Amino acid sequence: MQAVILVGGEGTRLRPLTSTVPKPVVPLVDRPFIAYMLQWLAGHGVDDVIMSCGFLASGVRNVLGDGSRYGLRLRFVEEPDPRGTAGALKYAEPMLEERFLMLNGDVLTDIDLTAQIAQHERTGAKATLALVPVPDPSAYGVVRLDDDRGVLDFVEKPSPDQIDTNLISAGAYVLEREILDLVPAERKVSIEREVWPLLVGDGLYGCPSESYWLDIGTPERYLKATFDIIEGNVRTPVLERLGDDYLVVDETAQVRGRAVPPAMLQRGVRVAEGAHAGSLAVLGEGVSLGEGAVVERAVVLDGTEIGADCTLRDCIVAAGCRIGERTQILEGAVLGEGVTIGAENVIAGGARIFPGVSIPDGAIRF
Ligand code: GDD
Ligand code: MG
Repeated sequence: MQAVILVGGEGTRLRPLTSTVPKPVVPLVDRPFIAYMLQWLAGHGVDDVIMSCGFLASGVRNVLGDGSRYGLRLRFVEEPDPRGTAGALKYAEPMLEERFLMLNGDVLTDIDLTAQIAQHERTGAKATLALVPVPDPSAYGVVRLDDDRGVLDFVEKPSPDQIDTNLISAGAYVLEREILDLVPAERKVSIEREVWPLLVGDGLYGCPSESYWLDIGTPERYLKATFDIIEGNVRTPVLERLGDDYLVVDETAQVRGRAVPPAMLQRGVRVAEGAHAGSLAVLGEGVSLGEGAVVERAVVLDGTEIGADCTLRDCIVAAGCRIGERTQILEGAVLGEGVTIGAENVIAGGARIFPGVSIPDGAIRF
């Protein structure tokens, strides 16, 4: 089975994490984000993946390679200019088979694609959209179904008066190649706004699911995805690593303080006396925690050094940062790559510090 993954967005809402790393390969727990999608697809019989890229495509290719690591063939297509969700697919048309999957590349899910493909065949659909319920559908495409799962209407980013269901499009589709006849070439086209409406009543079906589903487009959702993976709320290959105690401490890690599950401490991590990591902490390779430092409900990426008596809670700290003693990083703060924060600062309130920035000792308090 073939799949096209759309990864052409700039990931602006995940800045500063995506300022230096393309969104598909931002590390999530212990692997690039998009690896979860590749492994999920491979588990449903996908062996050929076309990655439809825009922004920083070579960065994605360098990290993922030819796909052999994930048991599939991986190819990359780069549009000359952003073509939108349908335009990007049109651009890849020469490579497409008669039936294929299309995925939005920013979701973490374990939806049963095999069941969705079976429904697609049973109904003779041209397009079958995976659907999931969400509490607030306003940021998505909402879908109403008839009793046979035919789509009655599709409204992208509905206004409040247009919302009378909580079922939204999950960004996972089974498609027949013929739908590309509806897409004009050489211009930007939105599949949600220009193609689905044309297929209502003419082969557009929905396949509702109760599976785990999350669009990881913001720092809050990135943290939620991290915690859901290490708590086992979503089925991923990480679960095997976590084992029954929901704790991974790499054999090269040196933990003098404590590691509190669920947590993942990767290669070369050092946790000094009196420091603790977890619960709900992910420490990337070579991260060090000074004496008495606390990291909980937080992600700290490769090589970052955290000084003594620091507190990191509900935050994301990218790779290669240095945090001085007694500094606190709290409440949704996100530090980009290579940031230096001096001693005795308090960074909170959703602050985003951009890559390479340096903040002196005692400069910021709340
Ligand atoms: N190649 C390419 N070119 N990819 C693109 C382009 C483009 O011009 N524009 C967007 N993408 C990719 C994004 O990287 C993302 O993976 C996917 O297409 C969807 O775009 P988003 O910008 O994330 O859309 P959204 O989240 O607001 O809405 C979409 O996803 C929802 C589910 O998360 C829609 O498909 C909604 O209907 C859906 O409910
Ligand atoms: Mg999205």
